[in-house]
Amino acid sequence: MQSLNNLHNSSAWIDHFKQNGAHTRTFDWQTRHRLPADAIKDIATSIAEFQRGESSEGRYFMHVSAEFAKAVNDPEYLRATELFIAEENRHGDMLARFLAHEEQTIVESTHADSIFRWLRTLGGMEGCIMVLVTAEFIAQVYYPALRDATDSPLLRDICEQIIEDEVHHIRFQMERLALFALARSWMARKSMGIMHAVLMTGATGVVWANHRKVFRRANLGFFRYVGQCYQRYTSARLQVEQTRTRWINAMTNSSTPADATSSPRLRA
Ligand SMILES: [Fe+2]
Ligand SMILES: [Fe+2]
Repeated sequence: MQSLNNLHNSSAWIDHFKQNGAHTRTFDWQTRHRLPADAIKDIATSIAEFQRGESSEGRYFMHVSAEFAKAVNDPEYLRATELFIAEENRHGDMLARFLAHEEQTIVESTHADSIFRWLRTLGGMEGCIMVLVTAEFIAQVYYPALRDATDSPLLRDICEQIIEDEVHHIRFQMERLALFALARSWMARKSMGIMHAVLMTGATGVVWANHRKVFRRANLGFFRYVGQCYQRYTSARLQVEQTRTRWINAMTNSSTPADATSSPRLRA
């Protein structure tokens, strides 16, 4: 995960998402390459489920983001969230177009996606972000596996684009979790960490159960898959703790108003 050393403010995130949207790869939608029957059988259902997840309108996230933006007087955060959701939806569109290219269909709903959407609404904004970023940790293992599981140049390009975008999504979400952690006691942070670990464990298991054919095609066995998912999770949580400590030290030691501008409370 990228270092959280310099907290981005919301207008920087707006710029990032706008620029990223304007500079996506060009995809060869005219390619005559088609996946062989055995490959499409193994991966089409899997892609369709991820396509569904990427296509969420994010209504609850928008709702809690609007409340948060108002509470911290950062109206631009809501716009940044809107652009983040638009980028996720672009992933959904790319995957849908790829499935159409392979004469496969998308799905309107899946059990895993319904549970995931429900979980997002249980814990306010912090809980919602925790669920979203959990999916993104796993996406960072899934999309490289999907890329490696296929010889389709088109699908490989799509995966590369999503992998690049997701790095920034994780940072976008973890910055917000670090801000929430700032005001929490050690006990509260431990409790949140345990909840996140439980969520991560459940999601890792469900994704393996539903998508193991993709991981196996990419020669990624169960233990390596779990290891890669947890490596992303633990490094991100560690960054949150380290960032929180650094911010607290900076606020404690700041003696001038200029020093205090690095305070996340003032910049968020
Ligand atoms: Fe995505
Ligand atoms: Fe994402």
